[in-house]
Order: sequence, then C-alpha cells, then structure tokens
Amino acid sequence: MERVTLRTIGVVGSGQMGRGIAQVAAQSGFDVLLHDQDATALDAARTFIDSSLKRLVEKGRLPEGARAETLGRIRAVADPGAFAAADFVIEAVSERLEVKTRVFAALDAACRTGVILASNTSSLSITKIASATRRPERVIGMHFMNPVPVMELVEIVAGQATSEGTLETTRDLAKALGRTPVTAQDYPGFISNRVLMPMINEAIYALYEGVGGRDDIDAVLRLGMRHPMGPLALADFIGLDTCLAILEILQQGFGDPKYRPCPLLRRMVDAGHLGRKSGRGFYEYGPEGAPR
Ligand code: 3HC
Repeated sequence: MERVTLRTIGVVGSGQMGRGIAQVAAQSGFDVLLHDQDATALDAARTFIDSSLKRLVEKGRLPEGARAETLGRIRAVADPGAFAAADFVIEAVSERLEVKTRVFAALDAACRTGVILASNTSSLSITKIASATRRPERVIGMHFMNPVPVMELVEIVAGQATSEGTLETTRDLAKALGRTPVTAQDYPGFISNRVLMPMINEAIYALYEGVGGRDDIDAVLRLGMRHPMGPLALADFIGLDTCLAILEILQQGFGDPKYRPCPLLRRMVDAGHLGRKSGRGFYEYGPEGAPR
C-alpha cells in the first residue's frame, strides 16, 4: 500500500471516547467529521470539546485563537454519507458486536475503497468486525484509553486479515495524534484489558473475601505501586458494567475459569451501581462525577 497523506478523519460515535478522539485529532491539525445517529449527543460533544479547549486556554496550554480554530475543524455530520470525504475513519460506538458490524457495513459502503476503517473497541474481535466489510485488510483496532486527551497510549490491534500497510498507516496516524502506538494481536482483551481486567477483578475478590477494605486495597496499588488510581477507583472510572462485559469476553474467549468475574462485581452491576456514571460504585460521586 502506498503511503497516503491523511487530512480528514471521520469519527463515528460522539460519546466519551469519540469526542475525545475528535478533540485530539482537531488539536493535531486534522479536519474531523464527527457523526452520531443521535443529534443531541453531537451537540453535547461540541459543548464538551469547547469547554475542554477553554480549560487548556486557561492553563496557558493553547493560545486563545486556537480554541475557535480547533473547534472549527470539527464538522458534525448527521448523514454518514458525508464519510465519502474521510481519509481514515475511527469508530467509537457502543461495545456491542451487532452494533459495530452494522456500522462497519455502512462505513464500507460510504467510504472510498482505500480508506482504513479503525475500531476503538476495547475487547471485541477485530477479525469479526472486519468480516462485516469487503475490505478486511483495511480494518484495524485503534484502542484509545480514557481520558483520551490525557492518555499517551494507543493500542493498535491487528486482525487476521489486517495488512502490513494498514498497520503502518495507523501507527503513523497514532504518532501524528501525539500518542504512542503499541501493537497487539487480535486475541480477547488484546494486551491492555488482558492484563488490567484480571487485576481489577482480583481487587474486587480481595474486597469480597475481606482480605482488605476498599481504601486499603486502593492505597496498596496507589502508594505501593504508584498507580494513579487504585483498582476499585479505576473500575468505577471505567464503569463496572464495562469491566464485567470485558471479563466475560475473556472468560468465554479463552474458556479459562481464571477470568471468572467476581460475584460482587456482578451483584453491583445488577443493582445499577456502575461507578462514576451512575453516581455510585465502590465510591459515591457528585453530579459532576467527582468523588464525594
Ligand atoms: N479530559 C481532559 N483532561 C483531563 C480529563 C478529561 N476527561 N480528566 C483529567 N484531565 C486532566 C486534568 O485537566 C489535569 O490536567 P493538568 O495536569 O494539565 O492540570 C490532569 O488530567 C490530571 O487531572 P486531575 O488533576 O483532575 O486529577 P488526577 O491527577 O487524579 O488525574 C486521571 C486524573 C488523569 C484520570 C488519573 O487519575 C489517571 O491517569 N487515572 C488512570 C486512568 C486510566 O488508567 N485510564 C485507562 C483506563 S482503561 C481504558 O481506558 C481502556 C478500556 O478499554 C477499559
């Protein structure tokens, strides 16, 4: 595949991850087409990105003039047909295989033949997502971490059919977005969640079995291993439903009982105690998601 110059990045999904990706792409000088089937979510994403840029201006990290310029590079599009103008597309819709495959089939129809379609999936199979398109060699995982504007890593995931050229272009794009790419193969949880989720699950087991209290467990990892957050606080940050879903993918994908989700995690999800987003998880949160 020849080296291509990317100018316009399409982002599908304007939730927490999609809007973060759109912001980082616009700040890196790319034109961005941001699509969401929900017009209210698109408006909310613009407002959120604008206030995030405003904070950067206040901190002196972004010149005042660059705020409007950056926001001006993001065009919200209601019609996915607008992606005919995109040079590279990143999907960040909800983590359900049937939703992702539907989006990828639509993107395959809307985008030019040579365009790479990347998924921000945290644990679904890139190979399965790619099979919904006629360009599996140009489908790849581009797993950003939350909060996107802060986290350096992008985990690039190579599916069974992903070509070397697609990998190279995607790594180059991650660098152009100011991130550090790491390549993982397409097996359940890739590298990040294969390592992170068992740690979080084990911390929940430690709480469940009374090995330590919530604050003790989090303090051990924060103060003893210099993690920015303890594993229980991190589980709340990610969302307990998301942690459970990823653990189930690991357990089913490997058929190995070592990934079995802790019954306490399951019980909290059943109770709707999903972490920051629901106001309550291992900790309680105020309206802005700040710990109480
Ligand atoms: N958007 C933009 N910037 C943000 C932000 C957001 N959502 N949240 C925090 N920041 C910025 C703050 O503005 C601040 O910037 P400054 O240093 O320039 O002033 C900086 O990040 C630090 O924030 P705070 O001072 O408010 O708070 P902390 O120092 O506690 O940092 C944190 C917050 C960055 C979230 C830090 O606790 C952290 O790194 N936690 C770990 C996060 C992590 O592990 N993420 C990966 C989750 S796993 C994942 O995403 C994969 C998925 O598949 C599950």
